Amino acid sequence: MNFYSTRTTDHDTGRDPGDTDLSTSSATSSATANEAFSREDHGLAKPLGSSVRHEHWPHVPAEPIAVIECDDVDIYYGDFRAVSAVTMAYGFNEITALIGPSGCGKSTVLRSLNRMNDLIPGARVTGKISYHGDDMYGPEVDAIEVRRRIGMVFQKPNPFPKSIYANIAYGPKVTGMRVSNMDDVVEEALTRAALWDEVKDKLKESAYGLSGGQQQRLCIARTIAVKPEVILMDEPCSALDPIATQRIEDLMSELRQDYTIIIVTHNMQQAARVADRTAFFTAKPSEDTGDRTGLLVEYDVTSKMFSNPSDKRTEDYISGRFG
Ligand SMILES: Nc1ncnc2c1ncn2[C@@H]1O[C@H](COP(=O)(O)OP(=O)(O)OP(=O)(O)O)[C@@H](O)[C@H]1O
Ligand SMILES: [Mg+2]
Repeated sequence: MNFYSTRTTDHDTGRDPGDTDLSTSSATSSATANEAFSREDHGLAKPLGSSVRHEHWPHVPAEPIAVIECDDVDIYYGDFRAVSAVTMAYGFNEITALIGPSGCGKSTVLRSLNRMNDLIPGARVTGKISYHGDDMYGPEVDAIEVRRRIGMVFQKPNPFPKSIYANIAYGPKVTGMRVSNMDDVVEEALTRAALWDEVKDKLKESAYGLSGGQQQRLCIARTIAVKPEVILMDEPCSALDPIATQRIEDLMSELRQDYTIIIVTHNMQQAARVADRTAFFTAKPSEDTGDRTGLLVEYDVTSKMFSNPSDKRTEDYISGRFG
């Protein structure tokens, strides 16, 4: 099965069973990837001797088991190179945080991971971004299917001007998901997003009647409803108060058991609290043009990044001396 097929998903796990390849030509590599991704093999079910231990997640392997990989990725807006030479892998069922000063390209990188940048005129990616080993930007890949599998939650909660129920049902309907009972899909997504108890008696009411924190959880539920594998979040708590933020952080930690999560945050404590791995980006002005191009400085297990970073620029940033 591939990005062009009508697919069924495993309702219990939210995954396409045994199905990760993006193109028909990649069956072999995909089969290998599937093996590597089974829970037994990738280390969630048994301790990995060489793993770096991490307080949030006991089995963070020393190297991420890649769901998405960037290989020497540059991202341009027209002639402007916003991000340069990013090489990194995002680990299976891990939370990866992208941190760095404003304008260093965190959102640009995040949007490239589900081809959301395609929607920006003039935006283009060079290098390779792969999903389970297959080129996400390959000529035959359906970007809409990419975005179904790799969902996105934005900085400002953006529910549709519809009922709570309709917000969740919308995605499964427009993506043509085979659904035997939409009520169940809605309940499951809202439950997974820790919102069900608060909204179960007002499903037909407008989503705009919810608080900001509830709206953001609704947006997470809406993302989950189409059964993605990866959830991208761009500063999902920046518009929320500390209590709502804590709820989203708790939710992320729970969702990590079933999803790969990549989050952009300006909140260093948040990265330290929730992320298994953290990537620090900065922006370097070009000597010729003065344009500031983002680059990846350091990427490591979060506990190492925040206690003993390898690069002085990371240390300066996390200690508040820069940025
Ligand atoms: N749609 C766009 N068109 C042109 N340039 C853009 C666009 N979006 C971002 N840029 C530029 O790309 C660079 C990186 O921007 P980006 O928004 O990715 O940074 P960021 O790290 O997410 O910043 P912030 O922390 O402020 O959100 C900046 O120089 C920005 O001006
Ligand atoms: Mg941003």
